[in-house]
Amino acid sequence: ATNLEDHIEKILWTEQQISQRVSELASQITLNFSSCKSAPVAVGVATGAFLFLADLVRKIKLPISVDFVRVESYGSGTVSNGKPKISCDLKIDVTGKHVILVEDIVDTGNTLSCLIAHLKSKGASSISVCTLLDKPSKRKVNFELVGEGKFYRGFECPDYFVVGYGLDFAELYRNLPYVGVLKPEMYS
Ligand code: PRP
Ligand code: MN
Ligand code: MG
Repeated sequence: ATNLEDHIEKILWTEQQISQRVSELASQITLNFSSCKSAPVAVGVATGAFLFLADLVRKIKLPISVDFVRVESYGSGTVSNGKPKISCDLKIDVTGKHVILVEDIVDTGNTLSCLIAHLKSKGASSISVCTLLDKPSKRKVNFELVGEGKFYRGFECPDYFVVGYGLDFAELYRNLPYVGVLKPEMYS
């Protein structure tokens, strides 16, 4: 089918529900970083985090820098190969800075543990994580935040392969404004 909506079995979080939750996360971040002397750096993990990052930072009422890293571990499939690669590094020097890693989803934890180690080695003074979705049932690696870093999450995700709002299957469906589950026939 060429109509995008026809590829989706069900919607898990609507555009309005996501927007509401993003506002709440942005308020918490605004409050928690309001006494920091240096502006935090929001680091989006490309590609999946692009929409969440854009919506989140617009709702944060503090000076904040924005940067991206690119990490890949899924290729075009639906299962992590367990070896994330940083294929594009930061532009901003995060030495002594408060970093907020922004993700669309935390699944095995491989991507985040790789990135946290990397940012820690660059001398970030704290590392927080803000993820729209968290799938704790799939966790294989536990990651430790750095310094005063906190973990912010939008929703706990049931164990479906989800797409939309940045999340892809084979690089498609990222442009859906909501998060949903693909029809099984779309995998083949
Ligand atoms: C996905 C997702 C997270 C990561 C989470 O990215 O966007 O970055 O996997 O999985 P993990 O916790 O098991 O590491 P992906 O590698 O598919 O790249 P993409 O963001 O370009 O889609
Ligand atoms: Mn990603
Ligand atoms: Mg992906």
